[in-house]
Amino acid sequence: MTTPQDIIRRDVLAMTSYPVPDATGYIKLDAMENPFPLPPVLAAHLGEHLAGVALNRYPAPRPEALIEKIKRVMGVPAGCDVLLGNGSDEIISMVSVACAKPGAKVLAPMPGFVMYQMSAKLANLDFIGVPLKSDFTLDTEAMLAAIAEHEPAVVYLAYPNNPTGTLYDDADMERIIAAANKSLVVIDEAYQPFAQQSWLPRADAFDNVVVMRTVSKLGLAGIRFPARPRRRARRPGRATARRTHETRAGCGPIAGRRSVPERRQLPAGAGA
Ligand SMILES: Cc1ncc(COP(=O)(O)O)c(C=O)c1O
Repeated sequence: MTTPQDIIRRDVLAMTSYPVPDATGYIKLDAMENPFPLPPVLAAHLGEHLAGVALNRYPAPRPEALIEKIKRVMGVPAGCDVLLGNGSDEIISMVSVACAKPGAKVLAPMPGFVMYQMSAKLANLDFIGVPLKSDFTLDTEAMLAAIAEHEPAVVYLAYPNNPTGTLYDDADMERIIAAANKSLVVIDEAYQPFAQQSWLPRADAFDNVVVMRTVSKLGLAGIRFPARPRRRARRPGRATARRTHETRAGCGPIAGRRSVPERRQLPAGAGA
């Protein structure tokens, strides 16, 4: 008889799950959540608001009012649009699936956030890890050499990096972004609330850069709500649309190569 194990890919069966140890009896710090609950007044207000939500309906295909608020509150540059997902994890997974052409690769400094590699593997992409220097700064020459050799579809730069907390040097990042002109460069600002700097104000200055944000680390991990602002289309092109889970929104294309208003887009390089 055929079992699920016969059907599931062997490399997926061999993968271990993302380890989340039981924190019962401990002060839980490992997931970088805010340890404090919402203030009672705010929790009550939220409860009242949620009572009025039409949970029997699918959410709006593109929640314009929410996107406008995100743009305002997060300071998204005028030339950028916003893609929403269920946690940055879902955005990372979408990026992997979208860029999973045969032979495509994902590149990131190591050590880095484990989901870049895990998501790449799940989507059948090769993962290239480039070790950081011993002081946890970028080994820029090694990154440039790896980009030239592998021509990755996606380059992740966590800013600040997890788990090292490093804010990479601007000039190093600029060299990598310029060299990765055939890649989607995802600047993952999950930990931006703990930093004084951000690439978001410059997100519209590059054709190949998206900046990923989340509210998880500033105290709202349960919401599963990241925002990934990126540059708007310069000219319309061919379209590919995809729907995931229940939080859906439109976004502009990478490097102005694809555009469909009102619908979620795959980045350039996505699909066959
Ligand atoms: C660098 C980095 N990016 C993204 C995430 C995932 O964030 P989210 O809770 O929005 O899925 C994490 C979570 O630890 C992280 O460390």
